[in-house]
Amino acid sequence: MKKSKTKCIGILTAGGDCPGLNAAIRGVAKAALSEYGMKVIGFQDGFRGLVENRTIILNDSSVSGILTLGGTLLGTSRDKPHKMLMGGEKMDMTQAAADNVRRHQIDCLVCLGGGGTQKNAMRLHEKGGVDVLTLPKTIDNDVAETDVTFGFDTAMNIATEAIDRLHTTATSHHRIIVCELMGHDAGWLALGAGIAGGADVILIPELPFDLDVVAEHLLERRRNGKRFSIIAVAEGAEAKDGLTAAGGGRSSNAEGTGPPVQEPHASRLTRELQRLTGIEARVTSLGHVQRGGAPSPTDRLYCTLLGTKAGELLADGRYNVMVAIKGGRCEAVPLEKVAGKKKLVPKDHPWVHAARLVDTCLGN
Ligand code: F6P
Repeated sequence: MKKSKTKCIGILTAGGDCPGLNAAIRGVAKAALSEYGMKVIGFQDGFRGLVENRTIILNDSSVSGILTLGGTLLGTSRDKPHKMLMGGEKMDMTQAAADNVRRHQIDCLVCLGGGGTQKNAMRLHEKGGVDVLTLPKTIDNDVAETDVTFGFDTAMNIATEAIDRLHTTATSHHRIIVCELMGHDAGWLALGAGIAGGADVILIPELPFDLDVVAEHLLERRRNGKRFSIIAVAEGAEAKDGLTAAGGGRSSNAEGTGPPVQEPHASRLTRELQRLTGIEARVTSLGHVQRGGAPSPTDRLYCTLLGTKAGELLADGRYNVMVAIKGGRCEAVPLEKVAGKKKLVPKDHPWVHAARLVDTCLGN
């Protein structure tokens, strides 16, 4: 057993789930347990389980056989410690969270999550005095200071396969098919899968689109004998004049009770394009399919690299950092450089340039 400054860690997964969470838990836990003899305590359902002190002891057998499993064995939630709904009221539960960390004599809390989780972990450190270490997870790929987040590659594979499949049916029926992809405010997923799937139009939040330009591109394709078109649209894409790609969005469920139910965002765009071009159009929203199922080999590899690097950093007593992937290597980045920042697609990114060169319409 190697020497370790850290004796006990807590681990939680927060925010939307994504493929690779279990692989990352396994990477952290295996390195921590077998290399350094640390105790590993899992908290259920993100920060809520931390506040409510719901734990699972992770040992070698509980983290075996999970490398390829989708979802997260710990469960997740979007709860924030400083604004948590408790008995119908939003409360600051930072101290309760910090008390539970101390109760278990945890030296460092490992938080696996996206942009929101980076912020929440930072706040827990600053306001609750808890040492934290984070890993960058999200299919959106929008976490700052890392080349890539885990979950993104798998989502891009799923979305690309979907676009491939939409191609054959769009071709047969001579239709426009609008395919809506996730990504929150970032266009990485739509752009990556759009390029990989050969979409004819790709619309992302970073490049506000002109509806008339898109319609003209579709008509031009038709004039050139191409009787179908595929549009990959990011859920956050917006038109220049303010008309969102959307139109759908969140709305209450039929009974008017419970949380809002997500509806496809791209419905309005689809209707408008059918109206402007006179070509029959359909919309497909890939939704949570993009986050489900087994991680890709690339994500399994990233998660194992990130997780085991986290184990090494913990053994060295390096806290309050995010483990990032930069140039194919893992490195620790101070959390204050990450928290509250977002990595959007730069307008001059090579993917944008390449898409234009293969005559993909980016809506402007
Ligand atoms: O951040 C990941 C993500 O999948 C976004 O792409 C999407 O906007 C959001 O989560 C969906 O959230 P929920 O799981 O709450 O429906």
